[in-house]
Amino acid sequence: PRKVFSGVQPTGSLHLGNYLGAVRKWVEMQNAREDVTICIVDLHSITLPHNPPVLRENIFTMAATLLSCGIDPAKSTLFVQSSVPEHAEFNWILSSLTTMPRLAQLPQFREKSRLVKDVPLGLYVYPVLQAADIMLYKATQVPVGADQLQHIQLAQHLARSYNTRYGETFPVCQALIEDGNASRVLSLRDPSKKMSKSEANPKATINLCDPPDVIVQKIKKAVTDFTSDITFNPGKRPGVSNLVNIHALVTGQPIKSVVDEASTLDTAKYKERVADAVIEHLRPIREQILHHMGKRSELIYLLEVGAEKARQQAQHTLSDVKQRLGLGTSN
Ligand code: TYM
Repeated sequence: PRKVFSGVQPTGSLHLGNYLGAVRKWVEMQNAREDVTICIVDLHSITLPHNPPVLRENIFTMAATLLSCGIDPAKSTLFVQSSVPEHAEFNWILSSLTTMPRLAQLPQFREKSRLVKDVPLGLYVYPVLQAADIMLYKATQVPVGADQLQHIQLAQHLARSYNTRYGETFPVCQALIEDGNASRVLSLRDPSKKMSKSEANPKATINLCDPPDVIVQKIKKAVTDFTSDITFNPGKRPGVSNLVNIHALVTGQPIKSVVDEASTLDTAKYKERVADAVIEHLRPIREQILHHMGKRSELIYLLEVGAEKARQQAQHTLSDVKQRLGLGTSN
């Protein structure tokens, strides 16, 4: 049977990259009646220095945002990672199946470890915990943006090595990455990089709960080039092409028709049109986020129900793992 799993760090609300590259797909799969589990990965969020009260708030903002994007707790399982202790426990077990050189070469580790002077062990082990997330639920499909591919490959590798050593247990999951440009929405300030929450300049990312005037400002300031007509050529014109891509994704139109309709516009006018389209698309989501944010006790309840469903599966997997590894005393 197919089993869909994915995770997101609680960074407050989502940015447009998370949303277009991953979350929209989760909702689509949920609505196609797939078995979907979504985890708010708070344990991953402490691998770089963090602020505890902000993290706690961000967990709720992320839950409210996912609900607003269409994740329905009646259809999917939505929960917070640290509420299911099996994630940390399985991380330990899998860390004994992982070699250090393999982790050291992963691109995200290399990028993020540059941000700190002394690298925390947690940052290094981060992808092992991610493999634990996936494997605990025996996930077969993992819908993610392009930046997660190497992490999913590690999970595939760990599933294979576990199966070889201890017997066929885990499916080798498949990364589902949106075709083309959705899988990589670029920074508005530096279109050679992906849109990312770790970017220092807040103008580089559009957040789902940004008010309309902020979205207008950010898109107006988006880096483009000195050619004023609108074309789609990500290699030569990454800035304008990123706007065209975003425009196509939020309106559901093909790239070509977006470009054709912009044939009479210069970049400044086109930016207004893109901003309008983004604002229109995000309006209902933003309203829902504000609505859910006001209902803290409902969020707590929903996440606890989700954790309970997740815990049952996780406990089932982990007790089999312990059995096969000869851990503990029960059989
Ligand atoms: P995170 O929280 O950074 O991002 C959540 C999802 O959004 C995608 N994404 C993007 N897609 C397109 N364009 C962008 N600019 C962009 N930025 C982010 C990410 O690829 C991701 O799918 N390590 C993971 C969280 C995680 C996880 C897991 C994922 C933990 N355990 C198990 C899958 C399975 C992360 O930090 O995602």
